[in-house]
Amino acid sequence: MVTYRNIAEDPAYKDVLPEDFVHGYSSASYQIEGGATAGGRGPSIWDEHLQEANQDTGDDACDSYRLWEQDVSLLQQYRASGYRFSVSWPRIVPNGGRNDSINEEGIKYYNQLIDALLDAGIEPTITILHFDVPLELHKRYRSFLATDPRELIADYTSFAKLCFERFGDRVKKWLTFNEPWIFPSLLSMGIVKGFSKRDFFRVGHNILLCHSDIVRLYRSEFQQKQNGLISIALNSEWVEPINDDPRAVKDAKLAIERDFGWFADPIFLGTQTTAWDKYGDDFPRLTQEELALLRGSADFFSLNHYGTGWATGQEVQPNGDPRFNMDEIDKTFVKDGKPIGMRGEEGHPHTVPWGFRKILLYTWDKYCKDKNIPIVISECGFAVEFEQHMSLDKIIDDKARQEYLNQYIKILCDVVREDGVRVSGFYVWSLLDNLEWLSGYGPRFGVTHVDRKNGFKRTPKDSSKLLAAIWRHVVKKN
Ligand code: BGC
Repeated sequence: MVTYRNIAEDPAYKDVLPEDFVHGYSSASYQIEGGATAGGRGPSIWDEHLQEANQDTGDDACDSYRLWEQDVSLLQQYRASGYRFSVSWPRIVPNGGRNDSINEEGIKYYNQLIDALLDAGIEPTITILHFDVPLELHKRYRSFLATDPRELIADYTSFAKLCFERFGDRVKKWLTFNEPWIFPSLLSMGIVKGFSKRDFFRVGHNILLCHSDIVRLYRSEFQQKQNGLISIALNSEWVEPINDDPRAVKDAKLAIERDFGWFADPIFLGTQTTAWDKYGDDFPRLTQEELALLRGSADFFSLNHYGTGWATGQEVQPNGDPRFNMDEIDKTFVKDGKPIGMRGEEGHPHTVPWGFRKILLYTWDKYCKDKNIPIVISECGFAVEFEQHMSLDKIIDDKARQEYLNQYIKILCDVVREDGVRVSGFYVWSLLDNLEWLSGYGPRFGVTHVDRKNGFKRTPKDSSKLLAAIWRHVVKKN
């Protein structure tokens, strides 16, 4: 049942966002490209892991390695003004290392995509690494788990340099990494055997050091002449105390400080979170020198947000899924027998627009306001519950996704005009029904249905039309 008012039809929302507001879609290389062995690509950690786990692999994904022109046409049809995609490190440097050979065919693939986007008037944003680390680097020195990260930093920065050199004349927005909080959580789910809490901390810490080195390089050698911006995509859900019990209040705060503050504090404030102090030296501390380099190492705040939960204030109950309790905070989506919002597939996410408002205000007040740094929503989206089992008609008529997106964009408009929050872009996750890291083609976030049995046929869902109408209405002169 539709319970909301479509903001595209609400005069109160006409032209509330500035003309240069970028609205578009996000994707990640491994989740859409396929072509796992095509054009000289080397294996990434996922190729091996997903084979072993005997689930769906990214061998074909959405076949965007072959069908990328159709993706660009869809973006045009959806009137997107931006597209955020990631480059596959093993497609460009199959073995990953700074002395390993470069695969020109891989570079050509991204060059064609970038040129087609620009021809279509769509601004590209590149995520330099969205989880698909070259397998060879994992074999050489355990990639992001390395205790001594010097090799990793040198290899990753060298890959980033290649991207700036080859794409930076046309690409003006860069993200060094996608979600340093989620990546170690995914690794803990079986991709690395015997993954410990120390490993978890090590991975996050190493990502911070790599990010800092890549930004140093970009700023010293490329930023001025290429006139671009750089940041890192950080994700956070919102966590609200379930009641006013001090333990619930404390835990809700701690959850955000652990998953968000671990990364946002050093990057935007130059400080280090105390939220992991109970782990003593197992939680690697940044040195004063490292903190000084990290401070201010982002030109905009790239925020990925999906949903909201209640902190119960109770002890964490192991649920067999370490992804959901990496912050060691007990959460629930049900209060007094009522769900927190409309449930998405596997509970990820729920529709809780007030939680989106809270994370936006928190991010703005804590990290951005003083320096007037804009926020870009680099991912936000909804997986309709049981969509994968529905008929094509029902899949296309994706009312639940429409409701979610309409409500979240309404909140975005509200914080811009009522609270003076600076938000300069919104990218829906995602353009296509893609592979999900741990559940294959289970939850579907795409605004485009991909029929894998019929030549990866792409069919727009109704949310894509709603989005086009919303942006036309809320963005000035669009
Ligand atoms: C990741 C995406 C993923 C999405 C939906 C985000 O955490 O960046 O790669 O597909 O969540 O699960």
